[in-house]
Amino acid sequence: MANVIVVGAQFGDEGKAKVTDLLAKNADVVVRYQGGCNAGHTVVVDGETYKFHLIPSGALYQKTCIMGPGMVIDPERFLSEVEALGNLISVDKLRVSTTAHVTMPYHLMIDAAEEDSRGDQKIGTTKRGIGPTYADKCARSGIRVEDLLDEKVLRSKLEWMIPRKNVILERLYNLPPLKVEEVFTQYYEYGKRMAKYVSDTAAIIFNSVGQKKNILFEGAQGTLLDLDHGSYPYVTSSSPTAGGACIGAGIGPTIIDRVIGVSKAYMTRVGEGPFPTEQEGQVGDMLRQIGKAWAEVGVTTGRPRRCGWFDAVLGRYSVRINGLDCLAITKLDVLDEFDEIKVCNAYRDKITGETFKELPSIGASFKNMEPIYETFKGWKTSTSECRSYKDLPVEARKYLDFLADELDVSIAIVSVGPQRDQTIVIEDPIHGPKRVLTRST
Ligand code: IMP
Repeated sequence: MANVIVVGAQFGDEGKAKVTDLLAKNADVVVRYQGGCNAGHTVVVDGETYKFHLIPSGALYQKTCIMGPGMVIDPERFLSEVEALGNLISVDKLRVSTTAHVTMPYHLMIDAAEEDSRGDQKIGTTKRGIGPTYADKCARSGIRVEDLLDEKVLRSKLEWMIPRKNVILERLYNLPPLKVEEVFTQYYEYGKRMAKYVSDTAAIIFNSVGQKKNILFEGAQGTLLDLDHGSYPYVTSSSPTAGGACIGAGIGPTIIDRVIGVSKAYMTRVGEGPFPTEQEGQVGDMLRQIGKAWAEVGVTTGRPRRCGWFDAVLGRYSVRINGLDCLAITKLDVLDEFDEIKVCNAYRDKITGETFKELPSIGASFKNMEPIYETFKGWKTSTSECRSYKDLPVEARKYLDFLADELDVSIAIVSVGPQRDQTIVIEDPIHGPKRVLTRST
């Protein structure tokens, strides 16, 4: 093993948890570095399905699991997740950063009210208070985990904050005001229950590096939901890209050995925003419905996922933005029944007619892009029992080879089902050849 970042290379929900779970076996420490309970990670072990929102999905291997300073934590959800997973994971190895920010009740109320008021500007958030929590962090008025442990500090911060939030709740959204004392009592109590998990997690990571331990940084959401590099404003409020791991965990980039991207063999998106390869008809329905265990429904919100063909233009962008060394392709088996499979390999600008193989900009013009497809013959046979690259039907291999060539990155892992063993390792994802950057945009 080595120090490895796993990131989503699409719009989130790429199947990162399965890849992290696979790699966590040989890791000593698993770190989540951004986001909060907007994430939903599903891992299937021996037919049992485990769903995680906050706790790193490496937890099932009883590893030291860290929730880093870049995360936002809803204490109520954290405590119920710990309770629900208590017997299955080693919670004494769970550590929460003192400086992670806390999602407070006003964040949840404002997230929901703001979304409802946006009309056609709606983002489709998970309503888990993520944006408002990060907004307060940037405004330097957030509440951090360490504040929950200090009666005086918590009370004083709430005495200042809640009257201000009440102006927004009451005047802007016609919602009932919050009472300082009630919020204080509830959140101070959460703090007491969380105290045993709270640590200087950046120091734990630093010491683990010194002890030559293997650290796995587990990204949530995906590259195209990144606040800076995603399809703004239809993004989350954190940095799911590889660079976010350094800031969100509190480590320097020099300790990172490898960055692994995870993409589905097709593409999905939950929430609003541009999705050039989205398929609304029969193809979209088939992608959504195939495979019971893979049903395309958001783990966090239960919303049906928007589905479409693989977008190699966005794939190239993800390789670039994250500096990916290799790729894990998940859910190849979902394509097993298709007569033909398409990949968007270039865009045409609907206004100017220009074509692009590299994303010209993830700015406003992104919504004007229409896909230009390459069509592949489907393999029309089950891949779910394949355990090596050569077991795969020739058409599936052609499809994967095309993606690797076009994205200029090797495919190290292919997943053909939700179970741990339904995984093909083509090349060692950790010790395989380091990717050499040769192309320019
Ligand atoms: P928020 O993170 O709840 O503010 O939501 C912002 C956007 O990111 C919405 O389009 C959500 O659907 C999307 N999003 C947030 N978390 C996830 C995730 O874990 N998977 C997929 N989409 C997500």
